[in-house]
Amino acid sequence: MRILFLGDVMGRGGRQAVAERLPGLRRDWRLDFVVVNGENATGGRGLSTEHAKGILEAGADVITLGDHAFDQKDMMRFCETEPRIIRPLNYSKSAPGIGARVFEATRGRKVLVAQVLGQVFMSRPYDDPFSALEPVLKAHPPGGTVAASLIDIHCEATSEKMGVGHFCDGRASIVVGTHTHVPTADATILPRGTAFQSDAGMCGDYDSVIGMQKDEPLRRFITGMPGGRFTPAMEEVTLSGLYVETDDRTGLATRVEMVRQGGRLSQCGPA
Ligand SMILES: [Fe+2]
Ligand SMILES: [Fe+2]
Repeated sequence: MRILFLGDVMGRGGRQAVAERLPGLRRDWRLDFVVVNGENATGGRGLSTEHAKGILEAGADVITLGDHAFDQKDMMRFCETEPRIIRPLNYSKSAPGIGARVFEATRGRKVLVAQVLGQVFMSRPYDDPFSALEPVLKAHPPGGTVAASLIDIHCEATSEKMGVGHFCDGRASIVVGTHTHVPTADATILPRGTAFQSDAGMCGDYDSVIGMQKDEPLRRFITGMPGGRFTPAMEEVTLSGLYVETDDRTGLATRVEMVRQGGRLSQCGPA
């Protein structure tokens, strides 16, 4: 199966780039399944119902969220009615929505998508991601009823992301990191067959500070004092993510390619 994952969509620029370019990538790369992280798509903070619908219409099969899952209040209700939204498994016991679900890809093949939050350097003390993942991995072994599975590990530390990657190695098709908005250059297939990248990067303008117009973050770094609001940068957007091919029979990865399309970053992809 050909699977594309796109990292955190950043504000209006990110949404527009996804809407304009994802249909072409779906066609040109003959994608069977697309997952997009949408936690920053609405003004950099959360994801509104309207913007979630736009990303789904552009060709995402599933949207994952993150620590900003419910920054837009309407997502609390929308994620209960729209099955194609996945919030972190370990967000909180009382969070609405669901953290793992099996979806259908082309030719009726089943794909598991799950997301967990890490604990290192995060703003809240989330529950242990490893014990949150364990029952999900156990219920959907590769080569079983699902043809492929994708785990989005949403956290700051590359160490924790690599830990989750190795924890899932041979038990999931893909483990891909989100949240830092900067792609890491470590896309690989781990020893037991799981495609892995510590961070997919964002779908946003990289002439910025992790997607925000650079003036205000710089002011705060230099002076320690806020002077205004953070606003998403929206000039030249790079779609950043990970392309993976998987074997339906084993459920494991056979090819992995980093994806950086458009904008200022050096370009890469499967084509
Ligand atoms: Fe995040
Ligand atoms: Fe993010």
